[in-house]
Amino acid sequence: MHSTTTKSHRSRGVIECYHEFLPVSPATPVISLGEGNTPLIYSPRLSQRVGRGCEVFVKNEGANPTGSFKDRGMTVAVSKAMERGTKALICASTGNTSASAAAYAARAGISCVVILPAGKIATGKLIQAVAYGAKIVAIDGNFDDALRLVRELGDSGDFTIVNSINPDRIVGQKTAAFEIVDELGIAPDFHLLPVGNAGNITAYWLGYREYVARKRSTKLPSMIGFQALGAAPIFHDRIIEKPETIASAIRIGNPASWKQARAAIFESRGAIDVVSDEEILTAQRWLTHHEGIFVEPASATSIAGLFKWCDSAGTAHSFKGIPETSRIVCTVTGHGLKDSDVIAGRMAELKPVPARISEVRRAIEL
Ligand code: F0G
Repeated sequence: MHSTTTKSHRSRGVIECYHEFLPVSPATPVISLGEGNTPLIYSPRLSQRVGRGCEVFVKNEGANPTGSFKDRGMTVAVSKAMERGTKALICASTGNTSASAAAYAARAGISCVVILPAGKIATGKLIQAVAYGAKIVAIDGNFDDALRLVRELGDSGDFTIVNSINPDRIVGQKTAAFEIVDELGIAPDFHLLPVGNAGNITAYWLGYREYVARKRSTKLPSMIGFQALGAAPIFHDRIIEKPETIASAIRIGNPASWKQARAAIFESRGAIDVVSDEEILTAQRWLTHHEGIFVEPASATSIAGLFKWCDSAGTAHSFKGIPETSRIVCTVTGHGLKDSDVIAGRMAELKPVPARISEVRRAIEL
């Protein structure tokens, strides 16, 4: 598993960093693109917004090789699939899983089939799947329909499913919790994140618990998940037949890890809440303008949730009364360039000016 010749010159990736916590052995072929080790960014302005001396950090998962957190789980799932001798991967996706699966399949030298809801995938993510050479099948249906088909095709034994119903995905993703504790020295008090198919909240909770069990941490955070208002099955506690939200990555009506997410929220004394599309887009813009972090709309859900909890007093969920100096981590899950249609729509046409200093000054309004 460990080659030594070029070790100091390459990114290590989550398997090499955390192999003792992962189901790998020296016989496992490590398929890695140097994922993980993403920035945990202290945010003074978000901290100020919460007040009471609290500290807010943003875990920027858009800094992974294919621009989303999926790479952490994919390196483990694809390495294990290779160990078992698989010839092809398959997944359903709202976009990021397919981009990641396609990249790791290319790296492994095997094929990858992605089943996508037609017309519902953000442009940047579709471009990734095409670029990495995946076989793409668009269906008339939503993500939940695509996942049902993938389960059937996976059962036939021709493919390894690399959705988060594959436990290797979840154990890979738990490494994000390890990194946070390694950096802060202890788990945060609250961990906020977007929830779609609910694999990620399940994975973080697993990671935090495992670090306590292995005496790497002495506490557990409260897990706070946010769903988009029109795609909030866990919040409403019922399947949503036609989920709708601008945050296409989390447009999911029947999450695969529903039960595990409920358990994480209950056991951690956390919560599940909703934010509107307008709140999501406002948070996305705010984070870009005020912190220099450009995330896709689905990712801004955790920031929108933070604002909602800061601004509401006397409701079930509020940060108004949290203990002073609490630490809050918000995961942002994917890079802004993946899903940039809303912003492209806001862009004014750029009219060229003559290449003279006076004209440029006038254009800048100096
Ligand atoms: N944020 C982004 C950017 C995502 O792509 C996803 C899920 C989530 C949040 C939610 O994470 O499903 O673990 O609760 N995307 C999946 C996909 C469904 O197919 O790319 P989750």
